[in-house]
Formats: sequence, structure tokens, C-alpha cells
Amino acid sequence: MRIPFIAGNWKMFKTIHEAVVFTKELRSTLKDVADVEIVIAPPFTAIHAVAEASRNTNIGVAAQDMHWEREGAFTGEVSPAMIQEAGAAYAIIGHSERRRLFGETDATVNRKMMAAFLAGLTPIVCVGETLEERERGETLAVLDRQVKDGFDRLAAEQVAELVVAYEPVWAIGTGRNASSAQAGEAHAHIRNRLRQWFGADAADRCHVIYGGSVKPDNIRELILEPDVDGALVGGASLDVASFAEIVTRSRTAAV
Ligand code: PGA
Repeated sequence: MRIPFIAGNWKMFKTIHEAVVFTKELRSTLKDVADVEIVIAPPFTAIHAVAEASRNTNIGVAAQDMHWEREGAFTGEVSPAMIQEAGAAYAIIGHSERRRLFGETDATVNRKMMAAFLAGLTPIVCVGETLEERERGETLAVLDRQVKDGFDRLAAEQVAELVVAYEPVWAIGTGRNASSAQAGEAHAHIRNRLRQWFGADAADRCHVIYGGSVKPDNIRELILEPDVDGALVGGASLDVASFAEIVTRSRTAAV
């Protein structure tokens, strides 16, 4: 049984001070919610402070990206071991903004996933088609390529631990979410491929979450899809009340 997994991707927002204030407030708002996995992805600078502020809660911390090397002459990069030491248990890998603006490819996604597991971090790996690809009818083929090349050489036990975020690029930050039918189709397709390539156990345990304009008023409809296990939330995760509402509404028992 997969419990809902809700992650907030803050992107390049919030200072350390703002991040700590948010985390303390979220912690008290959600103190009775034990049946949702909650993750916050602050900028690198705030990882340690957020990890301290969420200690002994079910709120986990993620980095928004990472390099694949342990250490070296890579100016501006942060290694998986550094992220782990700062208190994160997860790393977002292959976000479409990283792919589009910073040259991330399926090959670098794959290297980062292997490195994350080596450092004891759980990858939250993003896949998803652009608007042009969807309009050309290529959505499922794009997902196949991203999963096949991005997840290459992963062991079934690693795939079981993984969080896959299906994020159609046209739905990110646009206020235009995928319909539950569109999300349901993509998620079922991803799950089937995972079953085919990594076995039934890995496919059944892996969380496949949806991202792209998730808000308190559409989470319920999305999470009712059998293969939608949660959400990666951008804009609506910056406000405590709206993020907490998404967490609360994702609880299948409460739907
Ligand atoms: P959004 O971002 O919720 O603001 O659309 C989602 C994401 O980029 O992960």
C-alpha cells in the first residue's frame, strides 16, 4: 500500500529565515497527519536549517538538484554526500527547468540517480513531455525514452524506493493542470513500463506522483486516479496554508 507522497519544490524562493518560519508553521499545522509522506525542497542554502526545524517529524527534506561526483573541481556544484550531510534524504533530479535551462539530459539524470543511491539519497526523478510533443502525439514515447535512458542500470530494489514525478512541461507554472484522465493515462503507462522493465514488486512499491499546477482545489481529483500517488507542488507549496491543505486533501481516507 503506497501512502500519499506530497513534496513542495520551492525553486529559487525563500531565505533561510523564511524557510525556518515556514517549516515551524507547517510542523504545527500538520502535527496530527501521520499517513502522508511530506517533503520540502528548499534552495541548497536552507537545507540544513529546514532539516533542523523538521527534526523528529514526518517532514523530509530534498535538494532540488545535485552533481553526480563525490567531490572535485566543479565550481558551483554540490555533491550528494554534502546534501546528505546537510540533512536531506531526497534529491529532485531532472526537473524540466534543469533540462530546459541548464542542459540536463537523460544521461546526466542517470548518472545523478546512481550517485544519489550511493549516497543514501532517494531520487525524486522528473519526467514529462512538452506541449509540442503532446500535440504531435509523442507523450508516451517521450516517457518511454526518459524512463528507459534515465533509469538505465538501476536495480529493481532501487526502483521500488524511487519517486517518479510525472510533470507535463506545459502544466508547470502555467495554472493549467493535466486533467485527471491525462494524468491517469501517463501514470498507468509509466507504471506498466516499470513493471515490464523492473518487475511487479518494484512497480507496485514505486511512488509515481504528479506535478504541474497542483493546488488545493485539484489535488483530490488527481489523487483519486489509481496510479497517482501524490504530488510535486511548485507555486502552491510556497504558502503554508495552501501546502498544508494539499497534504490534508491528499489523504485517501479523507477523500
Ligand atoms: P507548479 O510547479 O506547481 O508551480 O506548476 C511544479 C514543479 O515545477 O515541480
